[in-house]
Amino acid sequence: MRLLGRAVGGEHQVRRDMVEQAGLSPGERVLDVGCGTGTLAVLMAQKVGTSGEIVGIDLSPRMIERARRKALLPQLKFYQQSIEAINFPDGYFDAVTATYVLHEMPRAARCNTLREIRRVLKPGGRLLVVDIYRPGGKFRYAVFRLLMLLENPTAWDFLDHGLLNELGEAGFENFRQSFIVDDLVPATLAVNPLPVQKAGDGTDVQQHD
Ligand SMILES: C[S@@+](CC[C@H](N)C(=O)[O-])C[C@H]1O[C@@H](n2cnc3c(N)ncnc32)[C@H](O)[C@@H]1O
Repeated sequence: MRLLGRAVGGEHQVRRDMVEQAGLSPGERVLDVGCGTGTLAVLMAQKVGTSGEIVGIDLSPRMIERARRKALLPQLKFYQQSIEAINFPDGYFDAVTATYVLHEMPRAARCNTLREIRRVLKPGGRLLVVDIYRPGGKFRYAVFRLLMLLENPTAWDFLDHGLLNELGEAGFENFRQSFIVDDLVPATLAVNPLPVQKAGDGTDVQQHD
């Protein structure tokens, strides 16, 4: 992330663009899964304000320790937790962010994680995923192949199964894909669908906010 940030004008700028993509509003509750050292969570905490809540979780005690040193705002909390078994109630969060974490997980763990994320999202809540992808163009593809030498085999598995397929399997809908920096950082937004109810004639009717 830092390498990429340097290449495109600063890690903070890339993170700020991620916050914009998440479309956060004051007062929202947001979970950052695999939060690392908490840089994104700090920026999101500024966006949601003191009426909101930002929670960052990560398996690594070292990451959480570093993140907690940055947790100077009251609305910002970090916990050591697996993102495959998130210790929050159903429908607690308005939004979840997952940046550069899914490609590090084996398929079964990714699928568990996406289901868990959906469980803790409110109906209509949104998930922002920023992660690796296969770029087009000979030069970018060659650089990508070199960078992939540094990755675990799970990264190829993530690309081969396809993020949209796995989001769909977990029950997410309304995918919107865009790029944060030219075509270097892809951002995918997905929505946890609202519950479907049966109308009097037996047809499905989706609830609205
Ligand atoms: C490449 S880092 C990305 C960190 C941060 N999201 C970022 O964008 O810089 C992936 C993070 O996911 C965490 N992670 C991996 N598997 C996890 C799991 N099962 N539960 C919680 N955190 C996990 C790692 O500890 C690591 O901090």
